[in-house]
Amino acid sequence: MGSAIRCDQETRLRWEEEGFRQISLNKVAVLLLAGGQGTRLGVTYPKGMYQVGLPSQKTLYQLQAERIRRVQQLADQRQGTHCTVPWYIMTSEFTLGPTIKFFKEHDFFHLDPTNVVLFEQRMLPAVTFEGKAILERKDKVAMAPDGNGGLYCALADHQILEDMKQRGVEFVHVYCVDNILVRLADPVFIGFCVLQGADCGAKVVEKAYPEEPVGVVCQVDGVPQVVEYSEISPEIAGQLGADGGLLYNAGNICNHFFTRGFLDVVTREFEPLLRLHVAMKKVPYVDEEGNLVKPLRPNGIKMEKFVFDVFQFAKNFVAFEVCREEEFSPLKNDDTADRDNPSTCRRALLAQHYRWALQAGARFLDVHGVQLTEQSGMLPNGDPPAICEISPLVSYSGEGLEMYLQGRQLQSPFILDEDQARLLRPQDC
Ligand code: UD1
Repeated sequence: MGSAIRCDQETRLRWEEEGFRQISLNKVAVLLLAGGQGTRLGVTYPKGMYQVGLPSQKTLYQLQAERIRRVQQLADQRQGTHCTVPWYIMTSEFTLGPTIKFFKEHDFFHLDPTNVVLFEQRMLPAVTFEGKAILERKDKVAMAPDGNGGLYCALADHQILEDMKQRGVEFVHVYCVDNILVRLADPVFIGFCVLQGADCGAKVVEKAYPEEPVGVVCQVDGVPQVVEYSEISPEIAGQLGADGGLLYNAGNICNHFFTRGFLDVVTREFEPLLRLHVAMKKVPYVDEEGNLVKPLRPNGIKMEKFVFDVFQFAKNFVAFEVCREEEFSPLKNDDTADRDNPSTCRRALLAQHYRWALQAGARFLDVHGVQLTEQSGMLPNGDPPAICEISPLVSYSGEGLEMYLQGRQLQSPFILDEDQARLLRPQDC
């Protein structure tokens, strides 16, 4: 296991350098799992189209697209290249159409559309507890996407690995759509995995509390696995280790590293061995009179494969610990829930940008024009004392901000986008 938190600066820079080197050689792709229905968030459109109320009003998709553009730019600056990080997006029957439309309407967020590859996963029927099909219309069986582990069939169905091979892609960063802080093609993570000779890897954060809805990365009889939060008993989730912390504390943040070679073996050999996980769900159905009924309690089961179930087949699996504050804030629920909702995501991003700005030497006046001091902590609701949003096109992970912000006094709310950066840039840069 590696750690971006517990390693020394030199080691981290070495990983990062290696990651950028691979990116500049066009060997790195990102792959988004975006076939989920977002039921908990309660929107009818794909989650990536959601915007959590940032000053810039950017959606999750836009933030991700801009991080891709920035990481390409950083790799180019270091290596003097003109590289591409292709973006593969797995969708489902529910999300494919609206996602394509959204990307077209937004001009693919200024990415070259030939480098954005959308493909569709399969569906499986939802069944009653007795195993009978459920009709969502008189003439249509209720179907649901086959889980994010449907990735491996979908890769084969749409010849995605061939496309990767043609482009020279060797390493793939697979991630889920809802983490507002996700670092696409993270050079530190990629570099670490490559230098370890890993064929498969997972980013983890320390679990925040025993019931946190994250899978735990662990070993079962020496084999790497993720035990999903829906399948772990409260007793085991709550067990403490010798240091007083949770025994199973490596929380899966759904950021995985795979070599193309590993994906190739999985799709050809191991995919049929992946088991189906069963979840009890509320599945709308038509009753005998033909009326659509939305059940209040679970009435059926959906079957899903899980993306991480292939870890067991890895020859060299690595886990990589990262800092939660910097890298993990998922959008799962609507604002009626206490956690993992639009407000907590917005705060996590704005708090991060406020920290970055302070580290770069900026000082802030709050919305009332009052000077904030070093001691001004977060507000009781978790908001930073001043609003500062930094475009991913200006900074990917906090780098390069001094030249715009050092010694500046900024009025909240402050947005550092490309235009603002041009204005603040010293003349000789
Ligand atoms: C997922 C992880 C969990 C992790 C958590 C971190 C899985 C199975 N579970 O849980 O271990 O701790 O994220 O936030 O990976 N998706 C598809 N197709 C589907 C179903 C889902 O592409 O058929 C995508 C979703 O769009 C999303 C991702 O997979 O991007 C995760 O799906 P979701 O069901 O939200 O997973 P969680 O239960 O939150």
